Amino acid sequence: MELKGIQLTWLGHATFRIETPAGKTIYIDPWVMGNPMCPSAEKKVRKVDVMLCTHGHGDHIGDAVEIATKHKPTLVAIPEMCHWLEKKGVANTSMMNKGGTQTVGDIKVTMVHADHSCGIQDGDQMVYGGEACGYVVEFSNGVKIYHAGDTNVFGDMAIIHDLYAPDIAMLPIGDHFTMSPREAAYACRLLKVKTVVPMHFGTFPVLTGTPSQLRDLIPEFEVVEMTPGQTIS
Ligand code: NI
Ligand code: MN
Repeated sequence: MELKGIQLTWLGHATFRIETPAGKTIYIDPWVMGNPMCPSAEKKVRKVDVMLCTHGHGDHIGDAVEIATKHKPTLVAIPEMCHWLEKKGVANTSMMNKGGTQTVGDIKVTMVHADHSCGIQDGDQMVYGGEACGYVVEFSNGVKIYHAGDTNVFGDMAIIHDLYAPDIAMLPIGDHFTMSPREAAYACRLLKVKTVVPMHFGTFPVLTGTPSQLRDLIPEFEVVEMTPGQTIS
């Protein structure tokens, strides 16, 4: 995996911290304090410049309000989720929708489709959170990553390749709530990425898919199995 000065840290489940070449700190799907896979050393968030939220489920935005109100990042999400987060006291939201690209700090963020649901648990209510999405992030050094959020495989992943050609894909493989390794292997062939980083597995007993199962299905791809807390640079 070629990161050229980017530091990529997996915090377990779908949560990643990325340090950009310009020293900005990005969190994708900030489930940190409540995330049983997140190492204790990472539970105290020090700095966040940009936060990207894929959808409203608690295992993705469970700590978004607390972290965003404290660190005041630019928070990127779909409009309905931004509206809910603003009502909870989050400032500096930068809403966007699928197919759009915006520059945030030193990264270019494109919101892309995800095939998943997007309710937000608010007390005893489930409120509408817009639609689930994924993100393609282009860094100033030219590296492009695709964080798929929670999703099934969908044929338009081929369009994500054609239009954006991400180098690295973070794909859910756990099964039950998202793709299993079988669907994720198909997704890799559509995306034609150089490197796959499996995520959203092992957190709960039902998330049974494993990186080795994915590797067995797609020996022609580089599957990088990270451990929670590990940084690749
Ligand atoms: Ni979900
Ligand atoms: Mn999830």
